[in-house]
Amino acid sequence: MSDLSAFIRGLPKAELHLHIEGSLEPELMFELSRRNGVAIPFRSVEEVRAAYAFGNLQDFLDIYYQGAAVLLTERDFHDMGMAYFRRVAADGVRHVELFFDPQTHTDRGVPFAVAADGLLGAMAEAGRDLGITSSLILCFLRHLDEDAAFATLKAAEPYLDRIVGVGLDSSEVGHPPSKFARVFAAAGERGLKRVAHAGEEGPPAYVWEALDLLHVDRIDHGNRALEDPALVKRLAAEGLTLTVCPLSNLKLCGVSDLRQHPLKRMLDLGLRPTVNSDDPAYFGGYVGENYVQIANALDLSRADLVTLARNSFQGSFLPPDQAAAHIAALEAYAAAN
Ligand code: ADE
Ligand code: ZN
Repeated sequence: MSDLSAFIRGLPKAELHLHIEGSLEPELMFELSRRNGVAIPFRSVEEVRAAYAFGNLQDFLDIYYQGAAVLLTERDFHDMGMAYFRRVAADGVRHVELFFDPQTHTDRGVPFAVAADGLLGAMAEAGRDLGITSSLILCFLRHLDEDAAFATLKAAEPYLDRIVGVGLDSSEVGHPPSKFARVFAAAGERGLKRVAHAGEEGPPAYVWEALDLLHVDRIDHGNRALEDPALVKRLAAEGLTLTVCPLSNLKLCGVSDLRQHPLKRMLDLGLRPTVNSDDPAYFGGYVGENYVQIANALDLSRADLVTLARNSFQGSFLPPDQAAAHIAALEAYAAAN
């Protein structure tokens, strides 16, 4: 392991943009396919990986929803969650705010409670056995309608004390944040935090809508915000956290080369980016690998890496005293390494 890679793996960090269904590795997909008798259109793990060549977000989503079809039981969700937590324990991850897509499961007849209980069980186990804290963010699928989002919020009612917030994901272009203004307002009334994917493929106008109509606490991705100087000014003034996902942007062709990635420009513009994996089983790397590859591509300094990790705790939904304790630990690590 290079010096930089070792420094990154040891750097305490939070992951704020992780779709747990996107952590389903082909090996586990096959195991669950056999365990549950659900057919998948692949004959081998190699064939699955070969199918992971995407031209855009929709190409990926088509395969991602197909992969999630093997998840049927509470144990499946638990196993997927634990596989993720075990993997990122080796990346210096101390806290995770994980997305899940209940509609992907309820639309197949898998009850909300099955997915939620399985994930919450894994989260409790990760806290006990790995020392990783976590919280759950329920994402609405934006290609579905507002009524379906409201039905999901209703299904979540018994779990709202164990869900930190709501998010908005899936096919961005053609499904602006405005479509979900009322359900986000309802979520806000229930005390939930709000985040939304915006500016991944969609225009800066979608980022404005996420701010003004959804009243988000963070922006997921936000890359295209850089096209609009007034928006950059607003994001900087409000200190809004951006959950950036370098390898995802590369694999979904948002950038043609990591050397063209906007992360360093975001830092230079006074924004608050963080580094995350999005869907690590599909995009070729967990959060540590995202840090390593973007650091090499953009020639980031150790001070930049510490800023990115600090942003991850500052932008988290942890209580301020817990965020401050993580930041103190990361400053101590940076001073000693
Ligand atoms: N669902 C899972 N990954 C996603 C992404 N990168 N963008 C939108 N929806 C997603
Ligand atoms: Zn995402």
